Amino acid sequence: MNLSVENLSKVYLNEGNVHTVLSGVSFTVQEGQFLTLLGPSGCGKTTLLTILAGFQDASGGSVLLNGKKVIKPGPDRGFVFQNYALFPWMTVQDNILYPMKRRKMPRQQREQRLKELLEMAQLEGKERLYPHQLSGGMKQRTAFVRALAGSPEVLLMDEPLGAVDFQMRQILQEELESLWLKDKTTVIMVTHDVDEAIYLSDRVIVMSSWEGIILEDLEIKLGRPRNRNGEKYLRHKENLMNVLRKALVKESDASGKERELCLA
Ligand SMILES: Nc1ncnc2c1ncn2[C@@H]1O[C@H](COP(=O)(O)OP(=O)(O)OP(=O)(O)O)[C@@H](O)[C@H]1O
Ligand SMILES: [Mg+2]
Repeated sequence: MNLSVENLSKVYLNEGNVHTVLSGVSFTVQEGQFLTLLGPSGCGKTTLLTILAGFQDASGGSVLLNGKKVIKPGPDRGFVFQNYALFPWMTVQDNILYPMKRRKMPRQQREQRLKELLEMAQLEGKERLYPHQLSGGMKQRTAFVRALAGSPEVLLMDEPLGAVDFQMRQILQEELESLWLKDKTTVIMVTHDVDEAIYLSDRVIVMSSWEGIILEDLEIKLGRPRNRNGEKYLRHKENLMNVLRKALVKESDASGKERELCLA
């Protein structure tokens, strides 16, 4: 797996007004890495992730997956939407089987993979339930293994825990981590939660409110599972909080004379 984002830009036209959301965004992702895109609301995280997924086109620059330009969605990229977005009319097992059917995987192989994924996500016995009959954690695990079911090269997750309250969120982060450790698919996750970014990521890219410019590209080399109260952990947290504060400020010139607070 080799993913590179090269000089990407995205411009929206809103009623004749040009709105540059992304400009000159470049980075490459290594195989097996858990990468998080962190940034304030409205800075272009979802826009970037949906371009990587091929759901929409960039205005300039390119995304290359294994050297091939991304122009449309494909089974080589799994996507976890905010609020899980399971198909409510399908049972857990039909949700998980869906990407495999799309990939035209032979029946026997599908059944085998389904068994593995249900076991991995501790969902055995729940396969015939519908999403509304599941707990938040079960929905999240179903969404995660469904996205893995088609064996994507890279898993894209847009605020997968965005709708969850604080305490549940920490528990689900731990579940997400242990699921990911069993599989180690390359992940690009979007969040605006600093603690979540440090707990889960090998690398954090901080985007600014202003044209999605990359303010920081930080490696987090702490062992797993991480101690949220550890000294190094807390230092990373303070550092990223400071960067995130800067992410809200647009500096129009190098001297910083003219500053504009972008409260997106
Ligand atoms: N389809 C669209 N047409 C026009 N403008 C859009 C469109 N989608 C997003 N935008 C604008 O682009 C900017 C970035 O939106 P985006 O959804 O990428 O932000 P985000 O970083 O994901 O924010 P959040 O954390 O709130 O989800 C916003 O100002 C938004 O209004
Ligand atoms: Mg978003």
